Amino acid sequence: MDGPFIIKPLTQHEAALFMPMTYPSYRHLLMRLSDEKMSERGRNSVFAIGAFLGLLPVGLTLALADASLDIDILSIYAARQFRGNGMAAAMLKELVLEARGRIGKMRGHQLVRSGSAGEDPGSFRIRAIYEKEHHFSQAVERILDSQGFEPSTPRCTVFRCDSEMGQMPWLDMYFDVSEPFRIIPWIEVDPGEIELVRTGNGEAGEFPQELSPFSETDRIEPSNSMALLRSGKIVGWSITHRPMPDTIRYSSIFVAADIRGLGLAIPLLMESIRRHVRTEMAVQAPKATFVVYHTNPEMKRMVSRRMARYSKEITESVERILSIAINCILSLLL
Ligand SMILES: CC(C)(COP(=O)(O)OP(=O)(O)OC[C@H]1O[C@@H](n2cnc3c(N)ncnc32)[C@H](O)[C@@H]1OP(=O)(O)O)[C@@H](O)C(=O)NCCC(=O)NCCS
Repeated sequence: MDGPFIIKPLTQHEAALFMPMTYPSYRHLLMRLSDEKMSERGRNSVFAIGAFLGLLPVGLTLALADASLDIDILSIYAARQFRGNGMAAAMLKELVLEARGRIGKMRGHQLVRSGSAGEDPGSFRIRAIYEKEHHFSQAVERILDSQGFEPSTPRCTVFRCDSEMGQMPWLDMYFDVSEPFRIIPWIEVDPGEIELVRTGNGEAGEFPQELSPFSETDRIEPSNSMALLRSGKIVGWSITHRPMPDTIRYSSIFVAADIRGLGLAIPLLMESIRRHVRTEMAVQAPKATFVVYHTNPEMKRMVSRRMARYSKEITESVERILSIAINCILSLLL
């Protein structure tokens, strides 16, 4: 990049200055850089690439590696007065370089430990998720193009609502479910039952990763995340998060395969919504987003039919992937 910016991975000491440059729900990740050095843990490893003008922080790209060492880009930000100078593209380029080095090393350590150091270290993926037709979409697309990300594939539809959704007639139509079913707050469920769901041994059975109740567990909203029980066993859930102080995200609604079609999903969702819009929570968090995955056409139909009229905005979220072959320098590790 031409210009006066310095682009580099941040140290823990520098990271605090960059807090305002990402979403509130990701800021805590900037406090975790200290354990990252040469991290052999790999999982939940944070990547923070900063841009400086002299000593002034002017841009941040934040990303997170999951347990399988694939990386999600969480946010890209360039300070307003410096936009259009190639800063975001340069940060992404640096992220790819840094990821290649760090993931390569972690993978190398894994292979050495497992005694399979001679094997092909394989590849990993960097994923960017963003909404189409947003004011930033065009810029994000060009930035991803610059690093050779694959074309976008559809992921989910996002419905954005405000307090008007309190007027939905369905809210007063679906209340109790009858025995043996019961809807209770997720936080009141026996932890042993939740563990059975986590290990796949519960009555909920298998569920797609995107509907897991175990993502972002530290930010699950306790006030209106609900569990559906059958004779005390978890068979469904409506899990919400609070990504911003004024917004509740309805992240996953799931009912077990053997009880679909019994009309249980709507009372479950309505109980979550009532606890949001009919309580004090509606004042603190008047906004709501509903995330409906393309892998779940029944839910998309249901939410479209019942929520679209009360949605201020409906956008399509897509993902783009960059697959990177790992060139491990195994000889250095042996
Ligand atoms: C999106 C954002 C990060 C771009 O930062 P930037 O430093 O201005 O981007 P760059 O200068 O590296 O531009 C990269 C490409 O995007 C294009 N671009 C930048 N801003 C654009 C805009 N508003 N509309 C269309 N294209 C744009 C540039 O022309 C360039 O394309 P090119 O390489 O084909 O010439 C910046 O606008 C920003 O911080 N916005 C607020 C936060 C945000 O919305 N982040 C994205 C979601 S997390």
